[in-house]
Amino acid sequence: MSTPAEDRLSGKVCAIQSSITLEVSAIAARLKREGHHVIAFGAGEPDLPTPQPVQDAGIDAIRKGLGRYTAAAGLPELRAGIAKRFTDDGYPHEPSEVMITAGAKPALYLAFYALLNDGDECVYPAPFWSSYSEMVRAAGGTPVHFSTSAEMDFQPTVEGLRGVLTDRTRVLLLNSPNNPTGTVYTAETLEAIAEVVRERDLFVLTDDIYQHLIYTDEPFTNILDVAPDLQDRVLIINGLSKSHSMTGWRIGFAGAPAPVIQAMTRVQSQIAGSPPSITQHAALAALDDPSPAGRKESLDQRRRLIIAELAKLDRVVTPEPRGAFYIFPSIAAHLGKTYEGTRIDDANVFSKVLLQEKLVATVAGDAFGAPGHIRLTYCTSEADIVEGVRRLGEMISELK
Ligand SMILES: Cc1ncc(COP(=O)(O)O)c(C=O)c1O
Repeated sequence: MSTPAEDRLSGKVCAIQSSITLEVSAIAARLKREGHHVIAFGAGEPDLPTPQPVQDAGIDAIRKGLGRYTAAAGLPELRAGIAKRFTDDGYPHEPSEVMITAGAKPALYLAFYALLNDGDECVYPAPFWSSYSEMVRAAGGTPVHFSTSAEMDFQPTVEGLRGVLTDRTRVLLLNSPNNPTGTVYTAETLEAIAEVVRERDLFVLTDDIYQHLIYTDEPFTNILDVAPDLQDRVLIINGLSKSHSMTGWRIGFAGAPAPVIQAMTRVQSQIAGSPPSITQHAALAALDDPSPAGRKESLDQRRRLIIAELAKLDRVVTPEPRGAFYIFPSIAAHLGKTYEGTRIDDANVFSKVLLQEKLVATVAGDAFGAPGHIRLTYCTSEADIVEGVRRLGEMISELK
């Protein structure tokens, strides 16, 4: 008798959970296919089109027959373009210090794989993007998070960070503008954190995927803006998924000291070969325009709308997001109640009932290290924002 397939799976793969956001999206897509009007506040995907010059460059690349392997670290001209973009932003990089990946996700995973020995710890502030923990674990590391509070604008503090540092801490991960809170880290926050980085000789990974989506006058700040002396131990992750609506094209990039990029490239050369060639050619057309006109304004309008709509709900506390395209209200006041006999013990159940009963897809805060919250992505139509929040309010009013 042969061993059942599930018993053949490795211990390491069994420890990894699948992406909660993608799971919610899959359920929402099924309900949509069944003819329901589902409000999609789940996936972090802009509904705006990929800019025309980028689409044209992609089509052109297909027609010219450029769908071949590229160098493992990416097209030399694209690496040079990204190095220039980093440098123009104030973070000097040579092309040899840049690599291209199939989305920001692989860049993050390759970075963890390159920097963490088994059991090494990667620390990051909570709330955090749900994929970090699984990626760190998949790379053999141990994810460790420290709390921030809504009252303190979810800014990571030195006390919080110090509280979780151990002899095994190797990497500090920062993400601003933040998914899921929409918080933007200030220069003061990063200056204070930089002190600890120096003191403990940490390596810093900054996930800057929402760099160009800040809706207030405050600047985008990377730790290198306030601590340029850390350049030899900072790895910047970025990509075009969010800024250019290229989520399915799969294009991301990393900038770091050359030995780290070389290590990540060695792994990429063995497991992916190279990043997708057509997408890289299309990405060249995006280089001149890091923040295409009109996108931010369109998202900001929806941000303001969802803030106003959520403010109408009973005891839903909503910190104001200033960047990215998520809003992260607390529904803690409604936990412990019941909905048609189902006890709403936590945000997971809340979010499940909201999807099943009101056809509104959200993601429970538990996956982001913040129980009692739900995350709503507001890059959907204004009509759906109003209707989705109305249904959320309706469910809340029906809780006993
Ligand atoms: C904070 C953060 N980093 C990285 C990613 C992944 O981006 P990509 O689609 O380019 O892999 C996401 C996507 O949701 C994200 O929210």
